[in-house]
Amino acid sequence: MPFYQRRGDVPRKRHIVFRENGRLLTEEVMGLEGFTGNESILYHLESPCRVKELGEFRPIEREEWVPEAHAHRRMDTYDISPGGDEISGRRTLMWNSDVEISLCRPDSTMDYFFRNGEGDEVIFVHEGTGTLETTFGDVPYKDGDYVVVPRGTTYRFVPEGPQRYLIFETPGLIEIPKRYRNQYGQILEGAPYYHRDLHPPTELNTQRDKGDFLVKVRVRGGIQDYVLDYHPFDVVGWDGYLYPWTFSIHDFEPITGRIHQPPPSHQTFQGPNFVICSFCPRKLDFDPESVPIPYHHSNLQSEEMIYYVSGNFGSRKGISVGSITLHPSGLPHGPQPGLAEKSLGVTETTELAVMCDTFRPLRLSTLARDLDDGVYAYSWHEPPADDPSLAGVTSHL
Ligand SMILES: [Fe+2]
Repeated sequence: MPFYQRRGDVPRKRHIVFRENGRLLTEEVMGLEGFTGNESILYHLESPCRVKELGEFRPIEREEWVPEAHAHRRMDTYDISPGGDEISGRRTLMWNSDVEISLCRPDSTMDYFFRNGEGDEVIFVHEGTGTLETTFGDVPYKDGDYVVVPRGTTYRFVPEGPQRYLIFETPGLIEIPKRYRNQYGQILEGAPYYHRDLHPPTELNTQRDKGDFLVKVRVRGGIQDYVLDYHPFDVVGWDGYLYPWTFSIHDFEPITGRIHQPPPSHQTFQGPNFVICSFCPRKLDFDPESVPIPYHHSNLQSEEMIYYVSGNFGSRKGISVGSITLHPSGLPHGPQPGLAEKSLGVTETTELAVMCDTFRPLRLSTLARDLDDGVYAYSWHEPPADDPSLAGVTSHL
């Protein structure tokens, strides 16, 4: 999506004869919005329609938790037990019709290929390194990367070491915010990142193996299995604007100001009716009279989920690495008692956090129920905390 790329061999023009060792290759136009959106053109050894066997279809089933009370919530996710692989190990925490937010801590890896046929994915790599092998080539990833995978991309993870992900899946498109781009698509001066921070596939490794290859495709609310008799990474070349890429949260250039900067200054991606934001280490507001932590605010139309990645979260009792706070719509929230006073004069924050704000209410899974601490809603009722930790180090509450 970010800009034109080309890997491997492509013919001099679109839609003309292109052979390899005398064999006519199969051209596939993979695009969005009915041939008017971004697209890539891929050249396959085999027809991408070629299926040897149709396997089973399994609906994706979610267990919903409907809490008795509408309230702010806090969950600790760090100690969730590992399980499954990078796909089967995804455990949905909350969702609505625009986005599905899952945790994944795999303890095995994929012996098959996967394609999300009905949504774009953003995989935030909290812990882990490895390579996402895809039809478009290899996409190396590391701690702190957002791995952006457009729908239709066949892939498999090749991890190195333990992995921990926060995953967003959407039936819409994951995009660079429109206000960061000019009319030609170039990222503007003043945006918190630039094209050099976006990393497309590094290398195309055309596979020519024959045999049985299982591809699981998410489609129609379930997973459909297909068996191919050729390796699905049979692309000899492609070009275009549609491909997987990574962006590191550590390359997000925070925007600071003399007084408090609102959450949109942290926006990293846009989706339909939701945004994903990055809260990164930075200098805080520098006016001598500024209040470095946020004002109270009412999410009248938004649900606000924050996943704490690393840093000192001392201004919020009970916040630690892997914690999630959920501030649902219709309720005000803000610093707990005494914290605004304590934050005065604080000059920087070391926080690293990922936030997802949705415009439509989020439904919660039974996993959220199991992780919910049940007491966070009362944390504004407690007397001021008397701990020596720096206030304001969590800059968004
Ligand atoms: Fe907030």
